[in-house]
Amino acid sequence: MTEASAPAAIDPDGATAVVTGGASGIGRAIVDELLTRGARVVVADVEDAALERTVAEFEDAAPGRVLGVRTDVTDESSVHELAERTWAWGGGCSLAYLNAGVTSGGGGLPWQQEPNDWRWCFGVNVIGVGICVSEFVPRMLDDGAPGQVVVTSSKDGGIAPVATASVYAASKAAVTCFTEALQLNLRSADGDIGASVFYPSGGLMDTGLYSAARNRPEHLQRQGAGTGRSGTTFDALVERVTQATGRAPRIADLGELASTAVDGACRRDFVIATDLDASAALLHERADAIGRGELPAPHPLGL
Ligand SMILES: NC(=O)c1ccc[n+]([C@@H]2O[C@H](COP(=O)([O-])OP(=O)(O)OC[C@H]3O[C@@H](n4cnc5c(N)ncnc54)[C@H](O)[C@@H]3O)[C@@H](O)[C@H]2O)c1
Repeated sequence: MTEASAPAAIDPDGATAVVTGGASGIGRAIVDELLTRGARVVVADVEDAALERTVAEFEDAAPGRVLGVRTDVTDESSVHELAERTWAWGGGCSLAYLNAGVTSGGGGLPWQQEPNDWRWCFGVNVIGVGICVSEFVPRMLDDGAPGQVVVTSSKDGGIAPVATASVYAASKAAVTCFTEALQLNLRSADGDIGASVFYPSGGLMDTGLYSAARNRPEHLQRQGAGTGRSGTTFDALVERVTQATGRAPRIADLGELASTAVDGACRRDFVIATDLDASAALLHERADAIGRGELPAPHPLGL
């Protein structure tokens, strides 16, 4: 694609898509939305039981259009196998949602984070995205068909950090920056592949992120006792935010969020999100503070 030409919209009907972290939460909602729109979807996830359950449920609703591939995005050979099976089953990949993600499990204070909190969180959220991009983008470019790579970031980090989520926020800032650089390079590459950064938004999300430690590998467990949080529940988070702000937080509708994620990718938008006005206002405020040499405002939970 040359810089001047507008990218062709992608029709999800009949397209092949891959969703990493597709067995639960936001990824699962994206799988659901893609299947509703007629796509063939590869659900890639590290959690065996959730993967099996999700694929079985969708197989009933969309027979023959869903394939589950157990994938660890931190492992190059696993991602290579995912790509091989995707191309063999679906003939290519038009929409690649790089969505698998975890918290750091360290919680709380930046100086309580252990090296393994960094290794696990950056391994999945940052290096996992890098491994998938290196495996999928060259194949997509070679195919010559229009395609979009959608990286799930977070407004926590991608726009501004939530102070109590330092490592997670840093990982999401990293993938936002990487995706921007990816798109800058894809615009002048030979082919019609684009990249999008997806900021899930619309309120607190009732997903498995708060118990992400269920998938934390043995060799990356926390070493210290008594510091950090190994996990929480969505209900506990709602309770904490209600206590802190004096009112019940907004809860995001995952179906609407998934619809936004599919619309944006098919339109080939670079930024995919709702509530962007509030984010832009925060970014202006942050830019002004930085211009004055001051600490910029953090991200309020649930924006
Ligand atoms: N929940 C939120 O509030 C929120 C907000 C903004 C962004 N996000 C991002 O959305 C994405 C999805 O998170 P979610 O909230 O749906 O959580 P979730 O835990 O419900 O889903 C994440 C999925 O990723 C999978 N996964 C974890 N490690 C993996 C690995 N190594 N390889 C492959 N799959 C792996 C999990 O098994 C799970 O199915 C993440 O990138 C997260 O950071 C979430």
